[in-house]
Amino acid sequence: MTEAQQWVWTPVMELDELWEGDLTGVQVGTAKILLVNVDGQIRAYENRCPHQAWPLDQGDLDGRELTCANHHWVFDALTGKGVNPDDCALRSFPVKVDDDGMICVAVP
Ligand code: FES
Repeated sequence: MTEAQQWVWTPVMELDELWEGDLTGVQVGTAKILLVNVDGQIRAYENRCPHQAWPLDQGDLDGRELTCANHHWVFDALTGKGVNPDDCALRSFPVKVDDDGMICVAVP
């Protein structure tokens, strides 16, 4: 069993509410999660910039480029890897869309 399978899947919002090119923040238990829709691909990350913990849902999503609103660090929204600077990464969470069209995130 993988680590993700031991986590709990929690429905957080309808896929229809997160349009392509959109990003939003949701709370799952005590975890603050950033959801992004990059050309129909959903990703979930900790909603916290690795630089100085700024909420990333206040940033900007342009294509697959996610830019923090505070000091403009840039991340690849599909992989979570830092682009500028490139020696950092976002913490990602497993995410799926269930049969009812709900985006579900797995958190510990
Ligand atoms: S807090 Fe995000 S770039 Fe500084």
